[in-house]
Amino acid sequence: MEKTLVLVKPDGVQRCLAGEIISRLERRGLKIVALKMLRMDRELAERHYAVHKDKPFFQDLVSFITSGPIIAAVLEGEKAVESARQTMGSTDPKKAAPGTIRADLGINMEHNLIHGSDSQENAEKEIAIFFRPGEILSYNRDLDKWLTG
Ligand code: RTP
Ligand code: MG
Repeated sequence: MEKTLVLVKPDGVQRCLAGEIISRLERRGLKIVALKMLRMDRELAERHYAVHKDKPFFQDLVSFITSGPIIAAVLEGEKAVESARQTMGSTDPKKAAPGTIRADLGINMEHNLIHGSDSQENAEKEIAIFFRPGEILSYNRDLDKWLTG
């Protein structure tokens, strides 16, 4: 089953929205298969955001993501990458569709509460940055039959 990496960014933790954000993704049908709280250091942040290293906002992004604790989760489900991205909404909360996490709760491009992998390939790379294979669980839930097919 497809997996994706989600981060509740420091603004989500500081604003006490971590539960709300994770809950929305759970309600969408995504299954939590790994979860941890951590504070990213610069080295980890630069690795995670390596694709953006030449962008003008890179240093601000790294400073922000390392500014406080975050919550990292691996979510599993059918089309998990796309489902999570859809529930998150567009990068800019002002342009995100109503009902998405970023539109409903986000503030601006920097303070947009959540990160989600943008492809299966990047999801695999990002999951490996945050979790060892033994930290990712595999389990069945009785309701899984309602969430597939
Ligand atoms: P994310 O990676 O956090 O899930 O967000 P995303 O795919 O929607 O956006 P991406 O293009 O990957 O950018 C990563 C994060 O960098 C910040 N950003 N700032 N100032 C800017 O123009 C700008 N563009 C992007 C955002 O916080 C975005 O989530
Ligand atoms: Mg991205």
